[in-house]
Amino acid sequence: MRANRMAMVVIWLIAGTGAAVAVDDAEQIKRGEALIQSNCASCHAFGLSDVSQHKSAPPFRTLSRNYEIEALEEALAEGIMSGHPDMPEFKFEPPDVGAIIAFLKSIQVR
Ligand code: HEC
Repeated sequence: MRANRMAMVVIWLIAGTGAAVAVDDAEQIKRGEALIQSNCASCHAFGLSDVSQHKSAPPFRTLSRNYEIEALEEALAEGIMSGHPDMPEFKFEPPDVGAIIAFLKSIQVR
C-alpha cells in the first residue's frame, strides 16, 4: 500500500497536474502516521498486516467497516473515547485531526 501511495504521487508528478495537492496529501498522511504511532500504536495495529498490541483494540485498517472515517473527525477534535476503559481519552487540534484522518483513510482495506 505504501508503495501504491508512492506510485500515485509519482504519477501525479509526471502528469504535472495537481502535484502540489498530492505532495500535501503525502505530508498529511506521514504526519498522521507519526501521531498515531506515538498515541495509538501501543494498542492499535496501524499497518496493513500487523496485529494490535491490545487484544480488544481493532486494527485501524478495518475502521471503515464500522464507521465513515470522516465521522471520526469530530470525535478526534472533541475528545475521542471508546466504551473500553483501557482506552484513554484523546483530543487533537484541527491540523492534527486532518492528518490523522488522512492517514486512516490511506490504510483502509475495505
Ligand atoms: C491503551 C490502549 C489504547 C490506546 C492507546 C488507544 N486505543 Fe483505541 N481502543 C482501545 C480498545 C481496547 C478499543 C476497543 C473498544 C471497545 O471494544 O469498546 C479501542 C477502540 C477504538 C475505536 C473504536 C473502534 C470500533 O470499531 O469500535 C477507535 C475509533 C479508536 N479506538 C481510536 C483510537 C485512536 C485514534 C487512538 C490514538 C489517538 C487510540 N484509539 C488509542 C484501546 C486503545
